Amino acid sequence: MIYLDNAATTLRKPPEVIQAVVNAMNQMGNSARGTHDEALAASRIIYETRELLSDLFGCPRPDHVIFTSNSTEALNTAIYGMISQGDHVISTDMEHNSVLRPLYRLEREREVSLSFVPADEGGTICYEEFERQITPRTRAIVCTHGSNLTGNLVDLVRVGEIAKKHKLLFIVDASQTAGVFPIDMEKMHIDVLCFTGHKSLFGPQGTGGMCVRPGLDIVPLKVGGSGVRTYEKIHPKELPVGLEAGTLNGHGIAGLGAGVRFIKDTGMEMIRRHEEKLARVFYEEVCQIPGIQVYGDFQADCRAPIVALNLKDYDSSEVSDELAQGYSIATRPGAHCAPRMHQALGTVEQGAVRFSFSWFNTIEEVHTAIRAMKELSQ
Ligand SMILES: Cc1ncc(COP(=O)(O)O)c(C=O)c1O
Repeated sequence: MIYLDNAATTLRKPPEVIQAVVNAMNQMGNSARGTHDEALAASRIIYETRELLSDLFGCPRPDHVIFTSNSTEALNTAIYGMISQGDHVISTDMEHNSVLRPLYRLEREREVSLSFVPADEGGTICYEEFERQITPRTRAIVCTHGSNLTGNLVDLVRVGEIAKKHKLLFIVDASQTAGVFPIDMEKMHIDVLCFTGHKSLFGPQGTGGMCVRPGLDIVPLKVGGSGVRTYEKIHPKELPVGLEAGTLNGHGIAGLGAGVRFIKDTGMEMIRRHEEKLARVFYEEVCQIPGIQVYGDFQADCRAPIVALNLKDYDSSEVSDELAQGYSIATRPGAHCAPRMHQALGTVEQGAVRFSFSWFNTIEEVHTAIRAMKELSQ
């Protein structure tokens, strides 16, 4: 099987990741729940993973790397924990439902008003719009680093400057870019960076987290066991425990740490160049096939390794099923949890077939996928 659905989750993981999970399952006690060797081993592995991630994302303090079960939980925590009654929030048409639905919920529950920077039919946004949308009640900009549908990127330095200038919170969804594109929280003025572990960080599913700028006050989504200050009725505030009630996914976090180590050892740039090359070769060929329409901005220097397309007016699910059954190629059709992006592209009815590439894909696989699309078009 040729797996080209890496934007959903990376199926192929470095062997080190699998080994780290197996080792953890054999050796790990419960972190911060005792001082025996096994509990200490868990604490050590988890702290090392915090250090690796804080270094990767330019987070000023490893203890401000918070583990969650995925980026959805991280985004919910950041959005619910910092946006108050009557606030105004700016987001974009490029967002995933993990950003949109928490915002829509706040619209209903806390009378939060929302503005969206529109995307054009190529899926790109106009940066001037961020400033135009600011009102005296604006509290935050919440935006993605990379669209999971088109692969278009957002210039975080530019948006971060706007957020800083207007003293707005800047919450970023790095689900599609973490581990592939350089992210520096300080340079980009990011207050909370949300990431998922199971995509380009090569960790297991059930891992993810958020990097929090020191000094921010985030109301936790959940409270409970913390291993410290047991007799207090209020969950401790200090991070990371303040946002991590309950036993952590230590086994998964061990795998995530191995994934980040693999990226560092291999070189993020090396990984990015390989993935970009695969996506570029695929794009250059398929965009010439009669009847194929590709979505997104391919003039951009930098883009996530995603190519979304449609074949004539076939439903995207039919094409994706044909690729799976006739060619053993895994892609993702449909709406990709990105309703506003599909509305902007005009693909609500048809959806789109998304091909997404990773380090473990080869150029031969790309050529097979190109041949498959040529045959299907005929
Ligand atoms: C841009 C973006 N944001 C958020 C998410 C949610 O990630 P998870 O399901 O791991 O929480 C995804 C996953 O597809 C995504 O692509």
